[in-house]
Amino acid sequence: MKAKDYYYREARRLGYKSRASFKLLQINERFYLLKRGYRVLDLGAAPGGWSQLSLELVGAEGLVVAVDIKPVKIKGVVFIRKNVFDEDIVAQLTNYAPFNVVLSDMSPNISGVSSWDHARSLELAERALDIAIQVLKEGGHFLTKIFQGDMERDFRRKCEKYFELVKAHKPKASLPQSAEIYFVCKRFKSLRTP
Ligand SMILES: C[S@@+](CC[C@H](N)C(=O)[O-])C[C@H]1O[C@@H](n2cnc3c(N)ncnc32)[C@H](O)[C@@H]1O
Repeated sequence: MKAKDYYYREARRLGYKSRASFKLLQINERFYLLKRGYRVLDLGAAPGGWSQLSLELVGAEGLVVAVDIKPVKIKGVVFIRKNVFDEDIVAQLTNYAPFNVVLSDMSPNISGVSSWDHARSLELAERALDIAIQVLKEGGHFLTKIFQGDMERDFRRKCEKYFELVKAHKPKASLPQSAEIYFVCKRFKSLRTP
């Protein structure tokens, strides 16, 4: 609870839309995913903490495209209000591709039944991976959240087909009691060499 209060207060103080910004900040400090001038796709972006931080890090020469079924209002961020399972989403994203980085902090509505939440979060992470491999630049990076569970290893193997480096990581700002964990996937090998 203490950690939650601290990051929540910090987010308010610094004008971030959510405390989630600190998770991305800590992941980025460790894995160097976001750089000036990069083009970033943020899936499941609302209320917008990751998009705000991404925009700060890529600067005016970069681009941040946010997708969510809920609204995201951040000056300078291109927002597409869509479900990631909509068939035309990749066609729409192609207008802004290729991206250097694809982020997904998408979450299902939490049921409290861990096996169910795990399975639903994997569906979202697999869809994010599927989109990422269609819009990422060769050498680009992918970051996704999942809720931990027994199918995690299969998902890691899938990521390893497409990326040179895959690490599971839980940043300090992620609540210890939360089952969430992030897969950091670096250096996209391109579709021709899975
Ligand atoms: C934990 S929040 C993301 C927080 C965000 N990273 C931030 O920094 O503010 C998860 C988001 O995933 C979105 N989401 C879940 N399923 C989705 C789907 N099928 N398509 C698009 N967005 C989805 C939800 O609407 C929600 O806004």
